[in-house]
Amino acid sequence: MFATRRRRPLLGLDITPSSVKLIELSAHRGGYRVEAFAAEACPPETISDSTIVDAEAVGDAIRRAVRRSGSRTREAAIALSGDSAITRVIEMPRHLRGAELEERLELEAERRIPFPMEEVSFDFDVVGPSSRHPDMHDVLIVAARTENVEQRQAALEAAGLLARVVDIEAFAVEKGCRLLSHQMPGAGAGKVVAVVDAGATTTRFCVLDDLKVSYARDVAFGGNRLNEDVMRKYGMGFEGACRARERGSLPDDYRTGVLAPFIDAMAEHVGRLLEIYRSSDGASPERILICGGCAKLPGIADALASHTGIAAAVGNPLGEMRLAPRAEGAHAAAPTLLTACGLALRGFD
Ligand SMILES: Nc1ncnc2c1ncn2[C@@H]1O[C@H](COP(=O)(O)OP(=O)(O)OP(=O)(O)O)[C@@H](O)[C@H]1O
Ligand SMILES: [Mg+2]
Repeated sequence: MFATRRRRPLLGLDITPSSVKLIELSAHRGGYRVEAFAAEACPPETISDSTIVDAEAVGDAIRRAVRRSGSRTREAAIALSGDSAITRVIEMPRHLRGAELEERLELEAERRIPFPMEEVSFDFDVVGPSSRHPDMHDVLIVAARTENVEQRQAALEAAGLLARVVDIEAFAVEKGCRLLSHQMPGAGAGKVVAVVDAGATTTRFCVLDDLKVSYARDVAFGGNRLNEDVMRKYGMGFEGACRARERGSLPDDYRTGVLAPFIDAMAEHVGRLLEIYRSSDGASPERILICGGCAKLPGIADALASHTGIAAAVGNPLGEMRLAPRAEGAHAAAPTLLTACGLALRGFD
């Protein structure tokens, strides 16, 4: 009865059009320890609009990341992005169980999901009693195009990995946000906090209420735009612009002429998202935490704070964790690891 069930380790693997990021966590003194980490760029054009075009090239990037991380774990949790999956909460009679419940859900899903069912992979989770009807249960249904799931599995297989968990990005982000609680007033309990994940192509704005996402919205604006500005201004290619930016080897007028206007534009986007959220009667957040690659731009948190009048800081999901020596590199990448961390946490469900 007291036998401890050894958890099989799991890699959290965040695959985006710009990069593959992986992290492995272990349980450590009531918290977590980072066992392995790596990030690898995805070659351009291998993923387009969340569809993997070249599974082999993505597989290569995953393989490089795994090798570099030093991890021997071969099972991973991956996510499907929002536009390739659909989620709905539906009510079902509480007495339904097993095959009967599944059958009813499938019929209901067929009515509510705008894809033909034969092209869809379908899963569900009984969330709990419905707040409106005591004799009903809220059931979360998730449907994704089987093609999208299979492409991702194929990319993992090409890298010698197995997808043990296929999650939805929004759920992974919500899980990852719990690791930001150390930066929230009252550790997030009963508090309203905004988390901005400003990546390469997309900036996600979500509001957490008591650590649960109560509102989320995306804009198609991110670090790629800054890169394009650099390319245009200095006549560089995409990779050259990335490298020059990382090395800080751009001309003197980069800071005032390119970076500052980009940061202003980001602050304006976030300000607008905040206004849209507030106009839907949302309570004002007490704090903004910014994550994603753009969180590493110098002065971005201050710009958000002065534009919105709300205290802002760079979010660090690894803030309370110890790092294994081989995973030291995760420190610098921490703000970009929200999704990967949320996926890695699935290993502790
Ligand atoms: N040190 C840095 N300084 C400035 N920008 C950076 C830095 N590191 C990464 N970026 C930028 O951040 C972006 C990548 O961020 P991130 O890894 O969060 O995106 P992603 O998750 O791949 O993309 P998305 O979430 O949009 O699908 C790129 O545009 C990159 O140029
Ligand atoms: Mg991202």
